[in-house]
Parts: sequence; C-alpha cells; structure tokens
Amino acid sequence: MSLVKVLSQRPIADQLFSITIESPSDLRKGYEPGQFLHFRITDSFDFTLRRPLSICKVDLKKRQITVVYRASGEGTRRLSRLLPGEQVDVIGPLGHGFPMHDEDQHAILIGGGIGVPPMVELGRQLRNRQMKITSVVGFASKRQAILLDELAEFGDVIVLSQDGSIGEEGLVTDALTEALCADASRFYACGPTPMLKAVKETMQIHNVPGYLSLEERMGCGIGICVGCVHPIERDQKVTNRKTCKEGPVFLAQEVVFS
Ligand SMILES: Cc1cc2nc3c(=O)[nH]c(=O)nc-3n(C[C@H](O)[C@H](O)[C@H](O)COP(=O)(O)OP(=O)(O)OC[C@H]3O[C@@H](n4cnc5c(N)ncnc54)[C@H](O)[C@@H]3O)c2cc1C
Ligand code: FES
Repeated sequence: MSLVKVLSQRPIADQLFSITIESPSDLRKGYEPGQFLHFRITDSFDFTLRRPLSICKVDLKKRQITVVYRASGEGTRRLSRLLPGEQVDVIGPLGHGFPMHDEDQHAILIGGGIGVPPMVELGRQLRNRQMKITSVVGFASKRQAILLDELAEFGDVIVLSQDGSIGEEGLVTDALTEALCADASRFYACGPTPMLKAVKETMQIHNVPGYLSLEERMGCGIGICVGCVHPIERDQKVTNRKTCKEGPVFLAQEVVFS
C-alpha cells in the first residue's frame, strides 16, 4: 500500500475528471507511456478491488502524475469526490507500456473515448524523439471530448464523433485512410475493444505495424489472480496472457479477438 496526496482534481468534461497526485514510486527509475496506476479508492470492504487508470501526464521534476478518468461506476465516482490534500492508496506504474522505436518517422496515435489519456504522455515522449505525430481521436459526442489542446501540441489532430457534434461524424477507422497511412511507421491505439479490433484490421490492410492497449477488467494488477487474461498468439500458438503483467500493451498482430 502506498498512500499519496491528491494535489488537484477538476472536472474537464461530462463525467470526466483530471486528477493529479504525488507519484507512488520513484519515476526516475523509469516508467513508460501506456502503463497504469492501480487505485484503491477507500478502505471499505465493498472496494477491495483496485481500479486501473492509465498515466496521462508525468511531471518528473515535481514527481507528479495526472490521470484522466470517467466517473462511470461507484469506485470512480468516489475518486472524483477526493479533494486536494486528501490521501489515496495507489500502486504503480504497473504493466508494460508502449515501446518506442528510434527509427520511426511518423506515428499515428489512435484514441477512443477514455482511451485517449495515455496518448498524451506517449505523444510527448515521441515528440521528444522528433517524430511526426498525427492523432486520430473519437468520442461519442462533443460533451465527452477531452485532451484535444494537449494532443495539438504534438501535431495534427483528427477528431471524430458518433453524433457529428465535434469533428467529422464517424468512427476513428473512417479517418485511417490510405493517404494518412502512406508514410506512417507505426500506430498506437487505446480504446474500447470493438474499436481496437477494427483498428487492427484497418491497419493490417494499410500494412502499418502497431500496438494495442487492452482494457481488460483487472483484480490484483500484479500477476497473481489471473483475472485479466486475454488470448495472445505467438509462434502460431494462442495462449491466455495476463494483461496486467505482460500488457496492457501488446503487438497488434498478436492480439486475438473473438
Ligand atoms: C490498463 C487499464 C487502463 C485504464 N485506464 C483508464 C483511464 O485512463 N481512464 C478511465 O476512465 N478508465 C480507464 N480504465 C477503465 C477503468 O479501470 C474502469 O472504468 C474502472 O475500473 C471502473 O471502475 P468503477 O468503480 O467506476 O466501476 P464499477 O462498475 O464500480 O467497477 C466494478 C469493477 O469492475 C472493474 N471495471 C469496470 N469497468 C471496467 C473497465 N472498463 N475496464 C477495467 N475494469 C473495469 C473495476 O475495476 C472494478 O473492479 C482502464 C482500464 C484498464 C484495464
Ligand atoms: S489482474 Fe490479477 S493477474 Fe492480472
């Protein structure tokens, strides 16, 4: 258990919050975009399971981490009521994040809804490597649109919404055209499972390699309970892999969808 202080908390869109906390571990020892923090919201018996939330931004100097989340269920609603100065039990960063490749020239970051937050820290780190970045992000509607200004700092941002209230009407895959992908070295995607499946298929057609961050339900978050497995194909063999420990990021070509 690691109790850390809440430094700030604010609503940023409909039911969406940004919380900044002290880092629960020494970030100078290393962390990766795409890794997650595991929050235990209260000591109450009803909330023994931690909630996994992705790293959105890191301030190494101040040793602070920002996470952006949707208050969808009881645990995250309680998290949204924590005030600056209060403490929260957090472990992490956990899991394996997005690998970055020095030889890449152009990365496409693809985020759907609450899958957008990890793209911010990833974009910052890729930009530090002088890479061209295009972000393609999709939301249900304008009321859920988040982090567009942050992503615009790294390059072009293509926005889509299902109801057409912001950006083009449609799904992220509608923007993954042959023209956009022509000079792409790699893609990185995080979002709901149907989106990840469609992105994998589309990018296979365009012949762009990449990574998917899976949002499996988690228990322990540290490889003990086997509550988070997903089928992964390696060497023509499909086995269930723990997404908390071996993921949540996997090579897109390895991820098996039903
Ligand atoms: C690696 C990873 C990173 C994530 N990053 C983010 C993020 O940056 N921002 C964000 O808003 N959400 C993120 N999620 C989803 C987030 O963990 C769930 O929305 C959250 O746990 C729901 O908790 P709750 O108390 O609101 O819901 P409840 O319904 O009260 O939760 C009950 C149980 O189900 C689990 N659960 C419910 N929905 C999900 C879900 N979609 N994914 C995983 N577990 C779930 C909870 O952890 C809890 O154990 C991430 C999930 C994973 C696996
Ligand atoms: S969440 Fe327990 S093994 Fe992954």
